[in-house]
Order: sequence, then structure tokens, then C-alpha cells
Amino acid sequence: MQPVLEIFPDPTALVNYAASLFAQMAQAAPGRFSVALSGGNTPRALYEQLSAKDMTERIPWPKTHLFWGDERCLPPDHPESNYGMTAAALLSRIPLPAENIHRIRGELPPPQAAERYEAELRAFFGETPAFDLVFLGMGEDGHTASLFPGSPALAESVRWAVEVEHTTPPPPLVSRVTLTYGVLNAARRVVFLVSGASKAAMFARAWHGDDVPAAKIHPENGKLLWLVDQAAASALSSYECPSRQR
Ligand code: 6PG
Repeated sequence: MQPVLEIFPDPTALVNYAASLFAQMAQAAPGRFSVALSGGNTPRALYEQLSAKDMTERIPWPKTHLFWGDERCLPPDHPESNYGMTAAALLSRIPLPAENIHRIRGELPPPQAAERYEAELRAFFGETPAFDLVFLGMGEDGHTASLFPGSPALAESVRWAVEVEHTTPPPPLVSRVTLTYGVLNAARRVVFLVSGASKAAMFARAWHGDDVPAAKIHPENGKLLWLVDQAAASALSSYECPSRQR
């Protein structure tokens, strides 16, 4: 199935659309509604929108289960923890049962954190991971979740979650735990949230399928939607395939 691109005038319009999509999908889900959240600034704005009174009342939180696509190996109350960011922006403001929160235990040694998260994923999904919805951001280097360029995690085809050494920008330079492509590409719907001119060159590359981690997200039986603001989409028209660049 071909990826779909929606371009918005600004990050607020992008986030409003993403929040409405979340609510629609949650309402339509016949049973549990499983979502993998992302870290990052654009995703944070979405979580704040989801906690707004008019929005949160539309979402059946008791059947919604929140997971994370990746986590920095930091304590959950650390300001740079993805869980910690989500707790401040969303979890503290919604009636989500505690048992519906499936965080990656960043406070554990990375290998243990990855193993424990994979066990929790398998306990929830059984043999095959099938998130209803996965939100992803994209870094200026083309990473998504914590699948960074050149990482051994890019080649992982058995494990559902792996620990990642992370010693080069972007910060924080701490180990991470990330879902692997097998899980991300098994989702029913993956939605990228990309905003800002700093992402324009890389978004153009990812959209055209260059060899960057974000471009390897192709849900086998699901839908892929890129929600991008005009600033991040501004290099699409001037994109040149690297093989043609002199
Ligand atoms: C993380 C995220 C990461 C993020 C991108 C985009 O832990 O940092 O999972 O993949 O989504 O770096 O972040 P921004 O939207 O802040 O640029």
C-alpha cells in the first residue's frame, strides 16, 4: 500500500489532525486499542492536544493501551525520558488505567529493559505484534524511534525490542531501547509526525526512499501516513536523487 502524505500549514494544524485521527481510531477499535508513542517535540505537542478537555472526552481511555516505540535509558522521572515527557503532557491528565500503561523500564540496565519490554509485548500481543497505531518522529539524520543510521538494530529481524548504544548526536547520549522494524512494520497504521524546516532535506530523502532508517518503515499489511508541515515539506520539489547528484 502506498504511503499517504498530508501537508499542513503549521505544526498546530498537523497535531490537531493527528489527535482527531487518534480519537477516531480509538472509538472505532472493536476491542483493545493499542498505540505505540514516540518521543520528541512534535509528538509532545500531540500528547498535550490529546489531553485537552474537548479531545480527551472523545477517547475511550479504558480500552486504550499505551506503549512506546523507544525510550532513553533514564529513570522515568528524568526530564529526557520519553515516558516522563508523556506523563507530564498526557498521562497525568487522562483517566487511563495504570495497567494500560506499558512503559519501557529505562531505569534498568539496557539489555534487561529490552528483554522485559519484549516480554510485556509478547504477553499483550501473543505470537504476532499488531499495534493498531504507531506514532513515529524522524530525526534530522533520518532516524526514527531509536533506529539510528548504521546501528546494528537496523538489521534485527528476530527480537521485538533491542537495546541500542547511542554515543553520537542527537542527545541525550545514553543507551536506548527501541522497537525493531519487524514490530513497526506489522502495525495496522503507522503515522509519522514531522515538522520544521530542519527536517526538510531529510524528509525529502525519506519520502523518496533513500537509504535512511525512516524510509524503511513500510507496514506490510497496514497503512503508512506522513503528517508533515509545510516547513518540513519545503524541499520536496527540489529533491535530487543521490545517484543523480554530481
Ligand atoms: C526520541 C524519539 C525520536 C524522535 C525524533 C524526532 O526518543 O527522541 O523517539 O525518534 O521522534 O528524534 O524528534 P523531534 O520531533 O523532537 O525532532
